[in-house]
Amino acid sequence: MDFKLNFNAKNHSDCEVAVFAGFSKTETKGKKTETKLVNSHWPKEVKDAFSSFKASNNFKGTNGETLVFPLDGGHIAVAFGLGEKSKLTLECSRKAIANLFKRLVDHHEDVAVNLDSFIIKGKLEDSITAMVESFIMTEYRYDAFKSSANKNKSKLKTVILDSKQPKSKLKKAQAALDAAVAVAESVNLARDFVNCPPNDLHSINYAKRVVADAKKLKGVKVKVLGRAELKKEKMGMYLAVNQGSDYEAQLVHLTYTPPKATKKTKHIALVGKGLTFDTGGLSLKPGAAMVNMKFDMAGSSTMYGAFRAAVLTGAKCKITCLLGLTDNAIGPKAIYPDAVVTARNGKTVEILNTDAEGRLVLGDVINYACDLKPDAIIDAATLTGACLVAVGHETCAILGNNQKLIDSVLKSAKNKDEYMWQLPIIPEFHDDLKSVTADLKNIGGSRFGGTAKAAAFLENFVEEGIAWAHLDIAGIGDSQGAHKPYCPAKGGSGLIVRSLCDYLHNV
Ligand code: BES
Ligand code: MG
Ligand code: ZN
Repeated sequence: MDFKLNFNAKNHSDCEVAVFAGFSKTETKGKKTETKLVNSHWPKEVKDAFSSFKASNNFKGTNGETLVFPLDGGHIAVAFGLGEKSKLTLECSRKAIANLFKRLVDHHEDVAVNLDSFIIKGKLEDSITAMVESFIMTEYRYDAFKSSANKNKSKLKTVILDSKQPKSKLKKAQAALDAAVAVAESVNLARDFVNCPPNDLHSINYAKRVVADAKKLKGVKVKVLGRAELKKEKMGMYLAVNQGSDYEAQLVHLTYTPPKATKKTKHIALVGKGLTFDTGGLSLKPGAAMVNMKFDMAGSSTMYGAFRAAVLTGAKCKITCLLGLTDNAIGPKAIYPDAVVTARNGKTVEILNTDAEGRLVLGDVINYACDLKPDAIIDAATLTGACLVAVGHETCAILGNNQKLIDSVLKSAKNKDEYMWQLPIIPEFHDDLKSVTADLKNIGGSRFGGTAKAAAFLENFVEEGIAWAHLDIAGIGDSQGAHKPYCPAKGGSGLIVRSLCDYLHNV
């Protein structure tokens, strides 16, 4: 899908369809309440064509209302209700665009959208960002494994944003558009990785595909650590998870240095859980719980998506991206429950449940990140089923050791209308992870507070003085809740990529 900005436009562009948003205004006079359409911003000939259409009397511009009417020149006009103007947010615009797109995508090749009616609270660039992101995120379909007869390509090829804005505003608007395309395409790439089946996206292929993509990014250095290097790094927990697998663990290490970096440039490390499949290991998952465990690498694809989006949009900070890739398989070499392994930082860990594997991989990778002395580490992981119980499919849980960092990430989530909620790491959870045999055990004594106990476990591998935040995306990582119309009904949601990209632009 291509986007074009048409500023200083006298009329709508010559497309099959022209879309105009209307607002509703409710007025109370005495005992009477009346809802009226506000469409004063529409071009005159559109207003005339609309009012000559009999059904237009019934159109009040309430949220989601649509009316299709003919325009001169053989165009179709769509009047689209956004509701009360004062209550409009960027998220309303994203949702409206998603619903609109779904109606148009299979029937029309090009669409002209009246941008001015979608400008929220006078914010031109933010409004363009929200619209364009929503178009691209809604267009997403995963059909890599469908034969061509079953591939359902969208028909819509061109979207023109018509606006009366002066040409002087075009440059900044175009930059916002280009950035939105880069970010939304990174969201879709993250979704692609999640949706790819695990027999194709095993650690080796996944690492190769990330490396191939990252090599196209300016200012990015790429390194991959395999089994031998992980042994040298003494990553005993990570290797224990990988030892039942035929596929070598791959730690992808990407570094972005911005062009004008100085000693004062902030450095953020992103760490992602990349379990290409989680069988549970010898503490095997029941069959039904194992289905969809290909998505257990969503933390890594979220982090790569955010890294890629931030690099393409010129983030000013240095960013390290570390993806801990492996599957959690069974086989003669698989690690036993009761085994004791030594973590990278020297702590010994009793593995009481091989299904609590994400924390073993992340613990070692987070510790590796600490050696780079970043200003902050953020990790993302589909870490605990308990997270779904705690905050559902709609919300990302955030925990950590530094309130300032957590508040900044929460703010970015708010900026991007993604749901994020903080859970506590309390000393009692740390006590619960003490082992009789080793320094630590990898599960607590009960399943209660599972998300926070997993985070408490991770905290053991964060070096003193380093700010760290952990995102549990077990619920929000896939779209089962389908609460956002611009997310697919099934599969990777790509949520949190935009929040993290926003954070990386605001450090
Ligand atoms: N990948 C799972 C977490 C998960 C489960 C995410 C269901 C999404 C849906 C993780 O590796 C896991 O298996 N965690 C265990 C931990 C338990 C053994 C302490 C869990 O949540 O059951
Ligand atoms: Mg598991
Ligand atoms: Zn897992």
